[in-house]
Amino acid sequence: MIIEYPPALLDEVRTRTAGRQLAGFTPGQGPLNPDLMLVGEAPGRHEEKVNIPFSGASGQELIKFLNSIGYSRENTYITSVVRQRPYSVKRVRDKKTGKLVEKTPNRTPTKKEVLAFAPLFDWELATIRPKIIVPLGNTALQRLLGPHANIGKLHGQRLEQPIQQVTPDHQGYQWSSKKYILVPMYHPAAVLYARRLMPVVQDDWKKLGQVIKKIR
Ligand code: URA
Repeated sequence: MIIEYPPALLDEVRTRTAGRQLAGFTPGQGPLNPDLMLVGEAPGRHEEKVNIPFSGASGQELIKFLNSIGYSRENTYITSVVRQRPYSVKRVRDKKTGKLVEKTPNRTPTKKEVLAFAPLFDWELATIRPKIIVPLGNTALQRLLGPHANIGKLHGQRLEQPIQQVTPDHQGYQWSSKKYILVPMYHPAAVLYARRLMPVVQDDWKKLGQVIKKIR
């Protein structure tokens, strides 16, 4: 299922991100009330093109981990804290032609961009109501647990605690009154950059599989 976001929230995002280097709009995808909600950082170039979250190289890695614990894209909700692809503009010389060409590589979203999308993300979480939230990497983790949370420390752990939600004026965050179950994971791109992380990440996913068994 592809979620339909409330038009008023989409309008607010549009206003707050006007003029920023953000491209496309990739909605979150998956069923209501799933066991797992996987939360990434932002869509990349492939996601922008095909409008399916985690459908590029990181996504393929992610789906393998998901399959290893008996889950699939179909029974899992997949989203990220920012719904557009953040890019930077670089002028580089083409090696073959010697001409200057403009490139628009992906970049990490800024804190302001994450905050601009926060009301939309909060609405999405409240609508989807997953049993377990799985933040993938520091951007998603810090959006939910604050700037001091660190994936290197918290990966593979079962946490049950309040999360950050946007304040009523949408200018910052406050702690939720409700507690949520979270199991933070390394972003799958980390494994692509550093293969030595593979056994650690495989072990984290095994632990997540055990956490789910106890909850179901
Ligand atoms: N990285 C993310 O965080 N999300 C995607 O959808 C793709 C790559």
